[in-house]
Amino acid sequence: VADFRVAAAASDVNWSEAKAALRDDAFDNGRSSEQLRQSFEASQHVAFAWDGELLVGMARLLSDGVCNAYLLDVWTHSSHRRRGVARAMVDALTARVPGQHIGLQTDDTQPFYAALVFEQQPEFMAKVEGTWLQG
Ligand SMILES: CC(C)(COP(=O)(O)OP(=O)(O)OC[C@H]1O[C@@H](n2cnc3c(N)ncnc32)[C@H](O)[C@@H]1OP(=O)(O)O)[C@@H](O)C(=O)NCCC(=O)NCCS
Repeated sequence: VADFRVAAAASDVNWSEAKAALRDDAFDNGRSSEQLRQSFEASQHVAFAWDGELLVGMARLLSDGVCNAYLLDVWTHSSHRRRGVARAMVDALTARVPGQHIGLQTDDTQPFYAALVFEQQPEFMAKVEGTWLQG
Protein backbone atom coordinates (compact mmCIF):
# COMPACT_ATOMS: atom_id res chain seq x y z
CA VAL A 1 0.00 0.00 0.00
CA ALA A 2 1.44 3.38 -1.01
CA ASP A 3 2.28 5.69 1.90
CA PHE A 4 1.75 8.79 -0.20
CA ARG A 5 -0.86 10.39 -2.41
CA VAL A 6 -0.42 12.63 -5.46
CA ALA A 7 -2.54 15.76 -5.83
CA ALA A 8 -2.64 18.70 -8.25
CA ALA A 9 -3.80 21.44 -5.86
CA ALA A 10 -1.05 24.05 -5.39
CA SER A 11 -3.32 25.84 -2.91
CA ASP A 12 -2.51 23.22 -0.26
CA VAL A 13 1.22 23.97 -0.38
CA ASN A 14 2.94 26.09 2.27
CA TRP A 15 5.67 27.57 0.06
CA SER A 16 7.97 28.58 2.93
CA GLU A 17 7.95 24.98 4.12
CA ALA A 18 8.45 23.75 0.55
CA LYS A 19 11.45 26.06 0.08
CA ALA A 20 12.91 24.90 3.41
CA ALA A 21 12.41 21.25 2.48
CA LEU A 22 14.19 21.75 -0.86
CA ARG A 23 17.04 23.62 0.82
CA ASP A 24 17.44 20.95 3.51
CA ASP A 25 17.45 18.32 0.76
CA ALA A 26 20.15 20.18 -1.25
CA PHE A 27 17.79 20.75 -4.21
CA ASP A 28 17.41 24.52 -4.10
CA ASN A 29 18.15 26.51 -7.26
CA GLY A 30 17.87 29.91 -5.62
CA ARG A 31 14.21 30.81 -5.94
CA SER A 32 12.61 32.51 -2.95
CA SER A 33 9.51 30.81 -1.57
CA GLU A 34 7.46 33.42 -3.46
CA GLN A 35 9.31 32.71 -6.73
CA LEU A 36 8.83 29.01 -6.13
CA ARG A 37 5.09 29.56 -5.70
CA GLN A 38 4.93 31.72 -8.82
CA SER A 39 6.78 29.21 -10.98
CA PHE A 40 4.46 26.38 -9.90
CA GLU A 41 1.28 28.43 -10.14
CA ALA A 42 2.21 29.65 -13.63
CA SER A 43 2.84 26.09 -14.87
CA GLN A 44 0.05 24.38 -16.79
CA HIS A 45 0.28 21.18 -14.77
CA VAL A 46 1.65 20.53 -11.28
CA ALA A 47 1.86 17.48 -9.06
CA PHE A 48 2.50 17.27 -5.33
CA ALA A 49 3.11 14.15 -3.26
CA TRP A 50 1.89 14.08 0.32
CA ASP A 51 2.57 11.71 3.18
CA GLY A 52 -0.18 12.84 5.48
CA GLU A 53 0.44 16.56 6.00
CA LEU A 54 4.05 16.32 4.86
CA LEU A 55 5.02 17.45 1.35
CA VAL A 56 7.34 14.71 0.09
CA GLY A 57 7.51 15.50 -3.61
CA MET A 58 6.69 17.96 -6.34
CA ALA A 59 6.98 18.36 -10.09
CA ARG A 60 5.64 20.65 -12.78
CA LEU A 61 5.08 20.69 -16.53
CA LEU A 62 4.95 23.57 -18.99
CA SER A 63 2.88 22.91 -22.10
CA ASP A 64 1.64 24.77 -25.16
CA GLY A 65 -1.40 22.50 -25.16
CA VAL A 66 -0.64 21.30 -28.68
CA CYS A 67 2.72 19.70 -29.33
CA ASN A 68 5.40 20.61 -26.82
CA ALA A 69 5.81 20.22 -23.07
CA TYR A 70 8.69 20.59 -20.66
CA LEU A 71 9.12 18.78 -17.36
CA LEU A 72 10.73 20.63 -14.45
CA ASP A 73 11.48 20.61 -10.73
CA VAL A 74 10.96 16.89 -10.23
CA TRP A 75 11.88 16.17 -6.63
CA THR A 76 11.16 13.50 -4.04
CA HIS A 77 12.23 14.09 -0.45
CA SER A 78 15.27 11.94 0.42
CA SER A 79 13.21 10.22 3.11
CA HIS A 80 10.72 8.94 0.50
CA ARG A 81 12.85 7.93 -2.48
CA ARG A 82 12.59 4.63 -4.36
CA ARG A 83 8.95 4.16 -3.42
CA GLY A 84 7.46 5.28 -6.72
CA VAL A 85 6.72 8.87 -5.65
CA ALA A 86 8.40 10.59 -8.61
CA ARG A 87 7.09 8.01 -11.05
CA ALA A 88 3.55 8.69 -9.81
CA MET A 89 3.99 12.46 -10.10
CA VAL A 90 5.53 12.32 -13.58
CA ASP A 91 2.88 9.84 -14.76
CA ALA A 92 0.16 12.21 -13.50
CA LEU A 93 1.73 15.11 -15.40
CA THR A 94 2.43 13.29 -18.66
CA ALA A 95 -1.12 11.89 -18.68
CA ARG A 96 -2.29 15.50 -19.05
CA VAL A 97 -0.41 16.04 -22.33
CA PRO A 98 -1.06 13.05 -24.61
CA GLY A 99 0.48 13.40 -28.06
CA GLN A 100 2.97 16.04 -26.96
CA HIS A 101 6.75 15.86 -27.09
CA ILE A 102 7.88 16.12 -23.44
CA GLY A 103 11.42 17.40 -22.93
CA LEU A 104 13.55 17.78 -19.85
CA GLN A 105 17.15 18.35 -18.84
CA THR A 106 19.05 16.38 -16.22
CA ASP A 107 22.62 16.25 -14.98
CA ASP A 108 22.64 12.87 -13.28
CA THR A 109 19.19 11.31 -13.02
CA GLN A 110 19.17 9.58 -16.42
CA PRO A 111 18.41 6.15 -14.85
CA PHE A 112 15.18 7.50 -13.35
CA TYR A 113 13.97 9.02 -16.63
CA ALA A 114 15.09 5.95 -18.56
CA ALA A 115 12.92 3.87 -16.22
CA LEU A 116 10.01 6.09 -17.26
CA VAL A 117 10.87 5.45 -20.94
CA PHE A 118 12.29 8.88 -21.73
CA GLU A 119 14.90 8.74 -24.46
CA GLN A 120 18.12 10.61 -25.10
CA GLN A 121 17.72 13.57 -27.43
CA PRO A 122 20.13 15.55 -29.58
CA GLU A 123 22.18 18.16 -27.78
CA PHE A 124 20.32 20.65 -25.60
CA MET A 125 21.28 24.34 -25.65
CA ALA A 126 20.19 27.12 -23.31
CA LYS A 127 20.85 30.69 -22.24
CA VAL A 128 19.75 33.07 -19.50
CA GLU A 129 18.91 36.59 -20.68
CA GLY A 130 20.40 38.90 -18.07
CA THR A 131 21.12 37.45 -14.63
CA TRP A 132 19.53 34.22 -13.33
CA LEU A 133 16.27 35.03 -11.49
CA GLN A 134 16.76 38.79 -11.92
CA GLY A 135 15.67 39.40 -15.52
C1 LIG B 1 15.32 11.52 -9.26
C2 LIG B 1 14.24 11.47 -8.18
C3 LIG B 1 13.19 12.53 -8.51
C4 LIG B 1 13.61 10.07 -8.21
O1 LIG B 1 12.56 10.08 -7.25
P1 LIG B 1 11.95 8.73 -6.60
O2 LIG B 1 10.64 9.08 -6.02
O3 LIG B 1 12.97 8.10 -5.73
O4 LIG B 1 11.78 7.82 -7.91
P2 LIG B 1 10.83 6.52 -8.06
O5 LIG B 1 10.80 5.77 -6.76
O6 LIG B 1 9.54 6.92 -8.65
O7 LIG B 1 11.70 5.71 -9.13
C5 LIG B 1 11.11 5.08 -10.26
C6 LIG B 1 12.19 4.26 -10.95
O8 LIG B 1 13.24 5.12 -11.43
C7 LIG B 1 14.50 4.46 -11.27
N1 LIG B 1 15.33 5.23 -10.31
C8 LIG B 1 14.90 6.17 -9.42
N2 LIG B 1 15.93 6.66 -8.71
C9 LIG B 1 17.03 6.03 -9.18
C10 LIG B 1 18.40 6.09 -8.84
N3 LIG B 1 18.86 6.93 -7.89
N4 LIG B 1 19.26 5.28 -9.51
C11 LIG B 1 18.82 4.41 -10.44
N5 LIG B 1 17.52 4.30 -10.80
C12 LIG B 1 16.64 5.10 -10.18
C13 LIG B 1 14.20 3.07 -10.76
O9 LIG B 1 14.02 2.23 -11.88
C14 LIG B 1 12.89 3.28 -10.04
O10 LIG B 1 12.12 2.12 -9.92
P3 LIG B 1 12.47 1.05 -8.74
O11 LIG B 1 12.61 1.81 -7.46
O12 LIG B 1 11.28 0.12 -8.77
O13 LIG B 1 13.75 0.39 -9.14
C15 LIG B 1 14.84 11.69 -6.77
O14 LIG B 1 15.97 10.87 -6.59
C16 LIG B 1 15.22 13.13 -6.48
O15 LIG B 1 14.40 13.92 -6.02
N6 LIG B 1 16.51 13.49 -6.71
C17 LIG B 1 17.00 14.84 -6.42
C18 LIG B 1 16.36 15.85 -7.30
C19 LIG B 1 16.65 15.62 -8.76
O16 LIG B 1 17.80 15.39 -9.16
N7 LIG B 1 15.58 15.67 -9.58
C20 LIG B 1 15.66 15.49 -11.00
C21 LIG B 1 16.00 16.79 -11.65
S1 LIG B 1 16.03 16.65 -13.43
